[in-house]
Amino acid sequence: MATNKPKWIRKDLLGLGDLSREEIELILDTAYSFKEISTRQIKKVPALRGKMVVNLFYEPSTRTRVSFEVAAKRLSADVINVAVETSSVKKGETLADTGRNIQALKADIIVVRHNCSGAALMLARHLDISVVNAGDGWHEHPTQALLDIFTLKEKMGKISGLNVVIVGDIAHSRVARSNIWGLTKLGANVVVCAPPVLIPAAIEQMGVRISHNIEEALENADAVNVLRMQFERDELGAFPKQMEYFRNFGITKERLGKAKRDIIVMHPGPLNRGIEMSSEVADGANSVILEQVTNGIAVRMAVLFLVAQGREKSR
Ligand code: CP
Repeated sequence: MATNKPKWIRKDLLGLGDLSREEIELILDTAYSFKEISTRQIKKVPALRGKMVVNLFYEPSTRTRVSFEVAAKRLSADVINVAVETSSVKKGETLADTGRNIQALKADIIVVRHNCSGAALMLARHLDISVVNAGDGWHEHPTQALLDIFTLKEKMGKISGLNVVIVGDIAHSRVARSNIWGLTKLGANVVVCAPPVLIPAAIEQMGVRISHNIEEALENADAVNVLRMQFERDELGAFPKQMEYFRNFGITKERLGKAKRDIIVMHPGPLNRGIEMSSEVADGANSVILEQVTNGIAVRMAVLFLVAQGREKSR
């Protein structure tokens, strides 16, 4: 009997802006089916046995790099982590040439993080093997948004109709952009909240509402996703000072006290305690920050599994 189940045909995952609602739902459903594997005594299935995954990170990472490695190993793939600092990148090799050489070494999937927006797309166009974007400049961080949305759906049972606030450095945040694409495609109402200097021009065209007042933004929120203040990207010295930011936008117990009692507090990490939120909130009953990290494994298993299938179909 014919089914209407969506099929995955892409060899790469570059961003959520490219994906349909059905493709996002397929990743989430696949992740649900994989989550249970991490609770088994033997946390491994043979789905990617014989495949090779290369982690190529040009920027620091803890959660994303480690969870891609764990996800690949749960699927029985071989994993190579390229230490960019001690690689031939330091001798001037381009990203495309590094990718071509990794392909020549018979890798099947490259997971790439780079400080340039579009780096993953450029690599994908040069290579026949799969490319997964683990964060490119200010552009997208699709697997972070997928794990945020997965966690939210797990907690709330749905995404459509939820009121989600994204607070913080929206201007420089690939996490914000991917979350906005994903959440709006799945029918959530998204508010971005920050001082004007941290809100990019024309962000409303992505289907979000802007607020500069965190108390007002939190009033009807089902969830708040608190972004890291990326002070390292403050090239013009235009960011508010840390204490000023915390005073005006920091998520505190007092501010949460005026929001819905069961509001979900998320943060992609790494967290600056006392700047984006108080420790009381980060470690409190509403926080799902560490559940997000755990869910990153299942989501990244789903992504690796699907792009590997997509590559087979594209050959
Ligand atoms: N959220 C996130 O991307 O964390 P890492 O930089 O530690 O990977």
